Amino acid sequence: MKTIVITGGTAGIGRYLADTYVRRGDRVVVIGRNTVAGKKFQESGGERSHFIEADLDLLSRNREVIDELRGAYPVIDAVVLCARFYRSFRTETAEGIEATFAHFYLSRFLFGHDLRESLERADSPVIVNVAGPGSDLSAANWKDLQFTRHYSGGAALGQGGKLNDLLGVSFAERYPQGRTRYVLVHPGVTATSQAGEYDPGTLVMVEGLRRYGKPIPVAAEPIIELIDSPPSTPLSAYVEGRPIPVRGRPFDPEAARSLDEYTRTLLAGR
Ligand SMILES: NC(=O)c1ccc[n+]([C@@H]2O[C@H](COP(=O)([O-])OP(=O)(O)OC[C@H]3O[C@@H](n4cnc5c(N)ncnc54)[C@H](OP(=O)(O)O)[C@@H]3O)[C@@H](O)[C@H]2O)c1
Repeated sequence: MKTIVITGGTAGIGRYLADTYVRRGDRVVVIGRNTVAGKKFQESGGERSHFIEADLDLLSRNREVIDELRGAYPVIDAVVLCARFYRSFRTETAEGIEATFAHFYLSRFLFGHDLRESLERADSPVIVNVAGPGSDLSAANWKDLQFTRHYSGGAALGQGGKLNDLLGVSFAERYPQGRTRYVLVHPGVTATSQAGEYDPGTLVMVEGLRRYGKPIPVAAEPIIELIDSPPSTPLSAYVEGRPIPVRGRPFDPEAARSLDEYTRTLLAGR
């Protein structure tokens, strides 16, 4: 029986993955804010389905959850990062961090690095970071990562994809002897809830995505294959099931190192 941790496992692709692995007989821990959906999941799989209520916008809550996971599960086979929430209007968390940057990047940074010891004890450990790999480095707002000026929901989300690419690069570089595979995944436009708070114009567009995106099982299938048989290389990236190269400017190691250093300094102060 594998142990699989899924952030954003209460809805969309994350929930589909959670149900799939519980059905197969694995232990699944989903993390999200929606207690109704979380408890429904918990009831669905008996002792193998677990729900932790947590707002991953908050660093303090991320750390508590990670401590809980480390204590409860000394061996974790897969960490799947699916939490994402679009905000048309800039929002700061109670800890003073821009909310998209907090849950879409900082939370994923903590979940990867801080669960690594438990992952390393598994037979074939993998972190699957579901976002949008492969964009140019300019997708990040390097001088103002928390968009204190000129915020847009699309830009914040697009930046998150880029930061997650570089997180993968620095994760692979930091642990050269590590066995945990880091896999970046773009599922393609998928008919999920597309959770978020939208301005009217964006909402019209999102309603189209909700209606015409690909079915969730189609988006999830390649992710299931990657969890079941992680790639042999430390870092890899896939767009709708097809591998893309993890080199060149979009995966620049120097940019990854600078981001890693910046992130560690930011986190150390909080
Ligand atoms: N759908 C697409 O077209 C598409 C395209 C490209 C990439 N992706 C990526 O695929 C992944 C899954 O997307 P999806 O569309 O399946 O998601 P979704 O249906 O919109 O669901 C989002 C999930 O994230 C959780 N979440 C959001 N904010 C959270 C917070 N602050 N703390 C804890 N959990 C939070 C939600 O749970 P609660 O409500 O319980 O908090 C929910 O389980 C995301 O990483 C997304 O970037 C999706």
